[in-house]
Amino acid sequence: MALWDGRFEKGMDELVKEFNASIGFDQRMYNEDIDGSIAHVRMLAKCGIVSEEERDKIIAGLNTIREKIESGEITFTVEDEDIHMGIESRLIEEIGDTGKKLHTARSRNDQVQVDLRLYTRKEICAMIEELIGLEEVILRKAEQYKDKISVGFTHIQHAQPITIGFWFMAYFQMFRRDIERLMDCYERMNLSPLGSCAMAGTTFPTDRHMTAEELGFFGPTENAMDSVSDRDYIIEFLSAAAISMMHVSRWSEEFVWWNSSEFAFLDIDDSFCTGSSIMPQKKNPDIAELLRGKSGRVYGDLMGMLTVMKGTPMAYNKDYQEDKEGIFDAADTWRASVRILAKMLDKTEFRMDKINEQLSRGFLNATDVAEHLAKQGIPFREAHNIVGRMVKAAEVKGCQLEELDEAALKETDARLDKERLGDISIAACVEARKSFGGTAPSEVERQIRVGREWLESVK
Ligand code: ARG
Repeated sequence: MALWDGRFEKGMDELVKEFNASIGFDQRMYNEDIDGSIAHVRMLAKCGIVSEEERDKIIAGLNTIREKIESGEITFTVEDEDIHMGIESRLIEEIGDTGKKLHTARSRNDQVQVDLRLYTRKEICAMIEELIGLEEVILRKAEQYKDKISVGFTHIQHAQPITIGFWFMAYFQMFRRDIERLMDCYERMNLSPLGSCAMAGTTFPTDRHMTAEELGFFGPTENAMDSVSDRDYIIEFLSAAAISMMHVSRWSEEFVWWNSSEFAFLDIDDSFCTGSSIMPQKKNPDIAELLRGKSGRVYGDLMGMLTVMKGTPMAYNKDYQEDKEGIFDAADTWRASVRILAKMLDKTEFRMDKINEQLSRGFLNATDVAEHLAKQGIPFREAHNIVGRMVKAAEVKGCQLEELDEAALKETDARLDKERLGDISIAACVEARKSFGGTAPSEVERQIRVGREWLESVK
């Protein structure tokens, strides 16, 4: 029978028991549940609600249960319903009637929130670590490729020449914001709901500040009703996960494209690819595709949680039991994805021969030529038009802008000549894009330096 069955005449329907139980997944939080209970009973003793002997007996019992769970001696079943009752009933079995005092001035409604906040806090820290690892790989690669030139695209059309280091540093910024979002989430969520009880606090003279401090929270939550019904922090974590997985997915997409034989800009290492069961020649970028696909599942976790919360009245509702599998899944998926992405990046090398072939296509230096003319007094809009006509002429001749001869230049605009055009080689153009945040190697070096300083500061 259940710990709550005093007013019941019959037990639960077997199917309902299965359906109602969360033990299958919430046992993942057994450590958090035990930590919360130990803090709680310490507080009960300090406030004179249980004696010191009772406290010590309960703490010893809880520690034994922790060991027994870890050694596999205790396994839970649907009869336990959830991890909170699973541990409480084992405690009573372990130490007898004293165990029945643990649940004084507490409810499962605040208990589950303590467990989940502790769990989420741990995942936030682990995720930040994982993302820091990824950022380190990015910085290394950016350094390695800081002056190697590639094609920059807009609309998947050749746009402007960029350094590969610059491209790496763009992703560095995205993952930096992901880390900052997690830190921000931590700041807001690290408050203790313990002692809020069912929804309205308690008549016992408890000390919620003490338990908050014991558990490493900044302090207790302000309002008991909010404490047992709020799941914003999970939604914030899931949003951060979804946004970050979007970054993972975008990057994976670039890997898939660039690894294709049409681009062949890079070679994804064999150890991150799979073959085809029928086509012997194939080396497929499955892992990059899987990383892209995993984002969908994390978005689903976010949408699931938003939908669970929508329209739930105050205060606790059993709907909230649905909060756990989504966050567990998102945290696992996100962590594994970032780890794999970092490994894949580390092993990826660029095929400069293939990239160089592309640098002479698509008039990558057209904007630079227009800027160059504008610097010599031709209003930019006019310069833009002149270069547009140069592009047309070059297209007809099948050559690059720098290959147009004097006659062709003059024909485009009387003010043009070779000397006036100056050095419009791709390398010179990239070198000159030194504006703050630009692609020039010197600027990428600055970005790497600032990035590294920031990364050191959050470690
Ligand atoms: N297993 C429940 C959950 O995950 C614990 C809280 C149950 N509270 C209740 N009043 N039924 O939300």
